[in-house]
Amino acid sequence: MKIAPSILAADFANLASDIARVAGEVDLLHVDCMDGHYVPNLTIGPPVVAALRPHTELFLDCHLMVDNPGRLLGAFAEAGADGLTVHVELGDPRPLLSEIASLGVRRGLAFEPETPFDAVEPFLGDIDLLLVMSVHTGYGGQAFIPEVLDKVRAARKLIDAEGMAVEIEIDGGIKADNAAVAAAAGVDILVSGTGIFGADDPGAAARAIRAAAS
Ligand code: DX5
Ligand code: ZN
Repeated sequence: MKIAPSILAADFANLASDIARVAGEVDLLHVDCMDGHYVPNLTIGPPVVAALRPHTELFLDCHLMVDNPGRLLGAFAEAGADGLTVHVELGDPRPLLSEIASLGVRRGLAFEPETPFDAVEPFLGDIDLLLVMSVHTGYGGQAFIPEVLDKVRAARKLIDAEGMAVEIEIDGGIKADNAAVAAAAGVDILVSGTGIFGADDPGAAARAIRAAAS
């Protein structure tokens, strides 16, 4: 199991030191980029990704909750993003996915809790990562929606049956107490924001989530 702390729940005034507290315990850093349009919240853009880049060698897993990702993909890649994930709710993702591929970074496709698996299934051959939202995008600290695990199971089954090289990531409300059910459903990467950075010892919290999932 890979663990991806969401820096949305870190202290934005001390990002580098918060990242250093978890770096030895995690596999990627999840970066929640919100534009104030796709979601009401406004968070991180390419300048912050560029500022983080010299402070960590961890994979920067950028989750774009923005209305018009096409305008930003190049800037995020230039800033040092390792993966760019766009939402299927915006419409046909293929032009965005091919641009992400041409930038040489990992292609991700996300879908909201209410969006059916059928909406992403046609694009599994065009992606490296499927991001299953287990809360509604916009804010950290929301409660996990267990019904989305059916979509994880459906994705796991198809990806394995077809031998596709697609990782499944789950995002929202993940803590040590639900890491095991997510793992059993077939998740490869657990994103956790408040579950890690909200803890007194974020490194120990990341370890506990990994232990619960294995
Ligand atoms: C929600 C974000 C999530 C969020 C997860 O829009 O995509 O990545 O930061 O935070 P927690 O783990 O607190 O639910
Ligand atoms: Zn996210």
